[in-house]
Amino acid sequence: MREHMEINRVRWDELVPIHAGSDMYRVELFRSGGVALQSIELEELGDVSGKSLLHLQCHFGLDSLSWARLGAKVTAMDYSEPAIELARSLSAETGVEARFIHSNLYDLPDVLNEKFDIVFTSYGVLCWLPDIKAWAEIVARYLKPGGTFYIVEGHSFMWGFETNADKTRVEWTYPYFTGDEPLVFDAPGTYADEHAEVQNTVTHEWNHPLGEIVTSLIDAGLRIDFLHEHQVIPWKPFPFVVEAGGGYYKLPYDIPSLPLMFSIKATRV
Ligand SMILES: C[S@@+](CC[C@H](N)C(=O)[O-])C[C@H]1O[C@@H](n2cnc3c(N)ncnc32)[C@H](O)[C@@H]1O
Repeated sequence: MREHMEINRVRWDELVPIHAGSDMYRVELFRSGGVALQSIELEELGDVSGKSLLHLQCHFGLDSLSWARLGAKVTAMDYSEPAIELARSLSAETGVEARFIHSNLYDLPDVLNEKFDIVFTSYGVLCWLPDIKAWAEIVARYLKPGGTFYIVEGHSFMWGFETNADKTRVEWTYPYFTGDEPLVFDAPGTYADEHAEVQNTVTHEWNHPLGEIVTSLIDAGLRIDFLHEHQVIPWKPFPFVVEAGGGYYKLPYDIPSLPLMFSIKATRV
């Protein structure tokens, strides 16, 4: 499994400066005092001020620093070294304090031994992880009793669809149950900039069924407070999505609805 994660890490390292310069990642908004979070997680997670928050797979820390700007005491981690370096320099430049840790998610217990009020993770994180049971155990391990876990993520069902040849509809393309062997993709550009020149184009990804995600969290010792399925998403998973307001996209009226994202709030028992 490590070799698959390593192939992806090399790509993530390359994507850091591309994403930091893209319109999708609102670095300038953050630099000018704003918060680069979406309304869904802001409303669903609620007030974080004064709480300790662990952000898993933080990329270059824009969301982590946004939670810190809202008053959370933030620790954030990612296995891409350039991502962690940029996060630290954004923190130093803006004076918004957060601790950034360079580690593979599965190795985090080797370098971090604390418990938090909140564990947070979002948008495009689970497909890079081969083992969801082990991920859920990491989530549970870092929560204080009564602490909150929150995830908002692309829906496992949505990931199975691809755009058809004339780019007008979705068609079922990928397995819902990936299993141990990852799906291998080779595509130009990146989700944040489809025209970007990227050298490392290959990714190895897993689609984790929603039932497995929920059951793994329960088995690890969490009580599910809600599981929401959303018809909007803050990026364009298909070229024909239409604007839904507030930075979100949705399917056009002539395509039957499908869940684009899910969010889970859970409590450590
Ligand atoms: C889509 S990005 C992060 C999502 C975040 N919401 C954002 O958009 O900034 C996924 C991140 O997961 C990290 N990642 C992937 N596999 C990982 C692993 N095994 N351990 C730690 N980080 C990992 C990547 O380096 C990347 O920064």
